[in-house]
Amino acid sequence: MSLRYAIAPAVRATAAPPIPKAKAWGPVYAASSAASTAPLLDLSQGVPGTAPHPRVLAALSEHAGTFEAAKYGSIHGEGALRTALAAELREKYGVGPGALEQADVGITTGCNMAFLTLLMVLCEPHTSSVLIPVPAYFNHAMSLSLQSVEPAYIPADPAQGFRPSLAAARAVLEQGAARVNGRDVTPRAIVLVTPNNPTGATYDGETLKQWYDLAKEFRVPLVLDETYRDFVDAPHGLFAEPDWRETLISLGSFSKGYRVPGHRLGSITASPALLHEVATVLDCMQICPPRTAQLALAPLLPELRGDLAEGSAAVAARRRLFEDVVNAVPGWHVASSGGYFAYVRFPEAYGARAAELGLAQGERVGSEAVARVLGERCGVVTLPGAFFMPALDDPVWARIPDAEALRADQWIRFAIANVSDEVIKQLGPRLEKLNAIVGV
Ligand SMILES: Cc1ncc(COP(=O)(O)O)c(C=O)c1O
Repeated sequence: MSLRYAIAPAVRATAAPPIPKAKAWGPVYAASSAASTAPLLDLSQGVPGTAPHPRVLAALSEHAGTFEAAKYGSIHGEGALRTALAAELREKYGVGPGALEQADVGITTGCNMAFLTLLMVLCEPHTSSVLIPVPAYFNHAMSLSLQSVEPAYIPADPAQGFRPSLAAARAVLEQGAARVNGRDVTPRAIVLVTPNNPTGATYDGETLKQWYDLAKEFRVPLVLDETYRDFVDAPHGLFAEPDWRETLISLGSFSKGYRVPGHRLGSITASPALLHEVATVLDCMQICPPRTAQLALAPLLPELRGDLAEGSAAVAARRRLFEDVVNAVPGWHVASSGGYFAYVRFPEAYGARAAELGLAQGERVGSEAVARVLGERCGVVTLPGAFFMPALDDPVWARIPDAEALRADQWIRFAIANVSDEVIKQLGPRLEKLNAIVGV
């Protein structure tokens, strides 16, 4: 359909949302005869599989019908929720009062909005770069592109459990301003996601301290997207650093731990000096975060700790079951896992089976072809690792050091939180069916 007006080039240049592309494989399978005996299994999206705690549901309906919840609220969110979240974070990170206060916490309309807002605050378009490990969460890559900020991709080596290379990051920061695509860009931030989407890799406290020290040395913020922090104990010790506010920015989400993704609540924990700047952007983007969910959750957070712990234990048990099931299938191997995700290597031998995977003879076999056949013919919808990397012919690869292993494009992301153990158990025969189709 044609338009009688223009679309901004940055939007045109940004990849379309990838999940619908993978979801489209499901109906192809559903229309096949196999679907009548073996149902479609959807492990594509990192969403919670169970309803919020009954007390949360009751409080949501109680507040949804009030005049108060219908009014605008504060830009940075309800004072009561900010106070309550600050207390939860002190508990989670093991720090005392003063180390993290209400004034350090802003509520946003989801963590994705927190990230985009932050880019607007930190990065001048066309002159900035951001250090970001690859594989990368696709919405981060898309947000950078929308803001005309160059990604300085840091390889997360599969042989190192997908931990990003500190040495490569140091080299980017030491170089400083760099000429990229005809423009001089300067590094403005380091972004890490832990537990990671897509790989599940969870960086230990010591590793995160090294990244923090690097960020501090080069006077850039360390932005941690901790959307999945409710699925690890004591994620790191950085909030105990007396000067953490000068360097650390931690993003959070209520979507996963509290299982309310549709209510759109996230958070930025950072220096009040940064939150002051963030308010300028948030005033235009959100005016206030959704009030019903804030009012509902604020008094409940302390009593939901047990629920979060149970949810985390259930997901951890499912990850173990998943590893047992997948590793038992010849050629398949769980390369890393954590939080909601497992990153799985498909059999090496698939590389020589282009025709069986619906590709032209001799064509390169990548994760997208494998995930498509797994979806369309075996009824398991996942996201290929290719969705979390630049296209293999993108010139950006020339600027990523030691990226050969990643370019093998041999991994598929399984989201395991939104399915039951019964579904996980059905995966073995499905992967065996794929092996049979491919002939390995
Ligand atoms: C790393 C990461 N950040 C942010 C989000 C989005 O979180 P929210 O629902 O709070 O916007 C997701 C959701 O999948 C995610 O995986």
